Amino acid sequence: MDERIAEQWEANAEVFTNLIDGTGTPHHHEILNPCVDRLLGDVSGKVLLDAGCGEGYLSRNYARKGAIVTGVDISRKLIDICKRTTAQEEINFHVGNICNLHFISDSEFDLVLCNLVLLNIACLPESLSEFSRVLRPGGILVFSVVHPAFNVYGPGSWEVGEKDPKTRRRTGQYFKVDRYFDEKEYLRYWRTRQGEKFPKQFSFYHRTISTYVNALISTGFSLVSLREPRPVSDNAFFDRERRIPFFIVFKAKKT
Ligand SMILES: C[S@@+](CC[C@H](N)C(=O)[O-])C[C@H]1O[C@@H](n2cnc3c(N)ncnc32)[C@H](O)[C@@H]1O
Repeated sequence: MDERIAEQWEANAEVFTNLIDGTGTPHHHEILNPCVDRLLGDVSGKVLLDAGCGEGYLSRNYARKGAIVTGVDISRKLIDICKRTTAQEEINFHVGNICNLHFISDSEFDLVLCNLVLLNIACLPESLSEFSRVLRPGGILVFSVVHPAFNVYGPGSWEVGEKDPKTRRRTGQYFKVDRYFDEKEYLRYWRTRQGEKFPKQFSFYHRTISTYVNALISTGFSLVSLREPRPVSDNAFFDRERRIPFFIVFKAKKT
């Protein structure tokens, strides 16, 4: 299972890195990252694990803000890219599986950030248990996923209208929520900013919000905050995301 997922990210590593473009996509800048920033708070001097760090832009971002950062990712290619593109910041990057962080000792971290990763892995309880183990008591976990009620990489779909010539986006009028309770894997291609398919399909694991919350509780966390962030500007491109949340972000404390 993990090998199959690792292969998907290996095959897509370069195209994914181009999509992220060093600082994240417009959706990240406009919606997700400001919320994650607020939930993490002042990271200066804090020991932070970036779990599923991808090409490393969040690791670099929080290292620049004074955190002592370790980035872990299952894809060797992405970790090589992290190391190549991280010049000034001092960050420990490791190839590793967040379902089993055996190479990290207990209570090493103040903060764990797991940004847009848990929807791509099968081992939700195992990874949350590992986050709980590597956090010190009172340590904070912030994780985000694409909102499970409104995610097209799952059971729902957009009922779309015409393409708006100004924004070049389809005017999605309705999001059809269906089969919300069917927790299962979906395979989907991502597309580049130019609209080309990624080389390989990704696995997405659809889960309900209560599954995430109950998995947190059963692995020793208490929920501190649950956010459905909205766009921070009035950019017309994000009209759809002003009506229906794109992401959901959880902040939990190790009890
Ligand atoms: C959508 S990307 C998010 C990357 C980064 N957190 C960000 O926000 O840009 C998901 C990442 O999770 C990694 N990943 C998937 N399964 C993993 C696992 N079991 N252990 C560690 N990393 C994993 C992938 O290689 C990929 O880099």
